Amino acid sequence: MSLQKTGFQLLTPPPRASITAVHGYLPPDLLTNAELARMVDTSDAWIIERTGIKERHILKGEGLGTSHMAAEAVRGLLQKTGTKPEDIDLLICATTTPDMQFPSTANLICEMVGVRNVGSFDVQAACSGFLYSLTIAAQFIANGIARKVVVVGADKMSSIIDYTDRATCVLFGDAAGAVLLEPDNLGYGIMDALIRSDGSGMIHLHQKAGGSRMPPTPETVANRLHYVHQEGAAVYKFAIAKMAEVAGEIMARNNLRADMIDWLVPHQANKRIIESTAERMGLPMDKVMVTIQKYGNTTNATIPLCLWDYEPKLKRGDRLVLAAFGGGFTWAGVYVQWAYDGASAPKLNGKGNGKSS
Ligand code: ACO
Repeated sequence: MSLQKTGFQLLTPPPRASITAVHGYLPPDLLTNAELARMVDTSDAWIIERTGIKERHILKGEGLGTSHMAAEAVRGLLQKTGTKPEDIDLLICATTTPDMQFPSTANLICEMVGVRNVGSFDVQAACSGFLYSLTIAAQFIANGIARKVVVVGADKMSSIIDYTDRATCVLFGDAAGAVLLEPDNLGYGIMDALIRSDGSGMIHLHQKAGGSRMPPTPETVANRLHYVHQEGAAVYKFAIAKMAEVAGEIMARNNLRADMIDWLVPHQANKRIIESTAERMGLPMDKVMVTIQKYGNTTNATIPLCLWDYEPKLKRGDRLVLAAFGGGFTWAGVYVQWAYDGASAPKLNGKGNGKSS
């Protein structure tokens, strides 16, 4: 029954979820192309030409997992915005490298940053997980259940990478990025979101052992089955098609022409995939956020790290199209009207936009 037929009127539309702050964390240790060329049969020139990556950050230190980086990013986010842990209503962690099978990494992050007695959970959608999480968080805000939601994308990819496999070890890095979402009734925020999946893509990108289908044994470890298995060319083909498709669908659904978009914020897996997506959308590269040269593919952290890096350039009202793809296969697109002037956002310790490195 429609609202009109029952005589009720929706006086105000449900609030949109708006990104009101962003922060990130990069572990201090760097892994350069030159170092990788000493570990496997590759070269700086090949990696730059085929992927655009020059270096990536790697988390070192015994007992430090994904939660360590995520907690650093969330602590910075709270400090930067003057938000008390007790003001947070919900924390979602997008990760493919959880600290443990259970409990969730989100639970652990909450404990580490002092967020207690609220819901927290992980979202697993490989590299699309951050956009899946934004989409979920927006629903909690729209229906009034939560007013302050933290979404953190974090991955310690180095924990599942085979550093004897040149086809994968050059691609990935470790990092975390977090955003604060709050209700906005001024017309800014998450305007639209699409999430998609196709499980038949599993064969091309997955981790064979360690789950319930193939629990760990001495044989699975000896056969290196706990690392990322990727058929690069198949993933590349899928990514090129789906990134453009999802961005195009978001544009069409929201009547967005290319000249109306201020920024494309693409998942950072390969510079050639990013360039191809921009070209198919009709966007020049100066409207595309690119950080892959510094950080590599940090899986769930790529998109919030882009927002963090480019925060000083973002202006209130800017139209952003966020697009991602990942293992599963999964893919997602989100249209955001940015809610604040990044240049006047609070800074941590007076260091630029608060970057840790
Ligand atoms: N250094 C030198 N040569 C290499 C390297 C390397 N690091 N890696 C592969 N090669 C070789 C291959 O062995 C192959 O040699 P061959 O022709 O003698 O067999 C040759 O380079 C070409 O291999 P391709 O796989 O065709 O190389 P391509 O140009 O496709 O680049 C890459 C490989 C970078 C992996 C690309 O396919 C790609 O980016 N794919 C998508 C990956 C991706 O986006 N993954 C993230 C998914 S998101 C998530 O959910 C985790």
